[in-house]
Amino acid sequence: METDKLIGKILQGYQPACVVITANELKIFDELKQPVTAKQVAENRNLDPEACERLLNALTSLEIVTKENNTYHLPQDSQEFLVTGGSHSLQQWIQLSADLYPVWGQLSAFIKSGILIKSIMDMLGGDPHKMRAFTDAMHDKALKATWMIAREIPVGDAKNMLDVGGGPGTYALEWCKLHTHLKATVFDIPPVLEVAKNYIEKYQLEERVSTKPGDFHKDDLGDSQYDLVLMANILHMYDADMGNAVVSKAVKALQPGGRIVLHGFCTDEDQTGPLDDTLFSLNIGMLTEGGRAHPVNEKINWLKGSGVSDIRYFRVEATPTGVITGIRS
Ligand SMILES: C[S@@+](CC[C@H](N)C(=O)[O-])C[C@H]1O[C@@H](n2cnc3c(N)ncnc32)[C@H](O)[C@@H]1O
Repeated sequence: METDKLIGKILQGYQPACVVITANELKIFDELKQPVTAKQVAENRNLDPEACERLLNALTSLEIVTKENNTYHLPQDSQEFLVTGGSHSLQQWIQLSADLYPVWGQLSAFIKSGILIKSIMDMLGGDPHKMRAFTDAMHDKALKATWMIAREIPVGDAKNMLDVGGGPGTYALEWCKLHTHLKATVFDIPPVLEVAKNYIEKYQLEERVSTKPGDFHKDDLGDSQYDLVLMANILHMYDADMGNAVVSKAVKALQPGGRIVLHGFCTDEDQTGPLDDTLFSLNIGMLTEGGRAHPVNEKINWLKGSGVSDIRYFRVEATPTGVITGIRS
């Protein structure tokens, strides 16, 4: 693409995000369960009718909303994601993007200093409602990845799995649902495990999925106890030394012959792609001390240094993220 067109397209990037964030903030999606005019939406939400119509037209161009006979409608299959109380509600996830918007506005400060702008733990940890919503959103986002990874890796060969920093426990639960002989332990900090316990109940897997509270920087993860250890979306929160140390603990928890799976953002060796991962690396840099989308080769070296062989890397395009897996020698 010609440079001027490329830059023009890139510069528009934040605008569609603002349209969705604003519609979410003003609860406009809730008004669109049935076809309605812009005037009705504006009246119901106390908005300027003409400005509201512009927003609805932009949402239509973005193919989120449909417009017919001057009425706007959120299609049925999108409602579960966007309306209040929807079964896969993205409302809190969209709000988190809104919270990140001012952080991205300080990108130049981060580039100058290399120091985080705002801690993600402060953003979530101080507000139990937000922490809960974030953990619920993690569950929804992880579902597709669990299925795609299970297609590539024989997770059913394992009997005893450890899900390190498992959050809601989505991977452990989905894989245990798939393989009725598999047992799993979800390791995380206590407040997150309260949410995981709800999911374990919901899946009715109390007999086979348990929780273990702890801090993987301070606590041991076990010694040759498991034949499958997963770390999904964890390593990007920490610098290379901390990442290496946690991976080494995770490998120690594996029996010889057991499998480790590292899932999450990771850039290519020269760190210039994929785009989602390079952007995420900036994002997490502004939110953590030393976190980044570690390059795939760096993580492979951590595994090799901990005695892992038969290493394989593949992308999970639906999410989109990378998976590195290997076997403890
Ligand atoms: C981004 S979430 C990923 C959750 C889950 N693995 C997934 O991919 O859906 C990161 C998780 O790591 C947990 N975590 C971060 N640091 C931790 C630590 N030092 N000890 C235990 N858990 C930790 C967090 O509480 C959170 O649940």
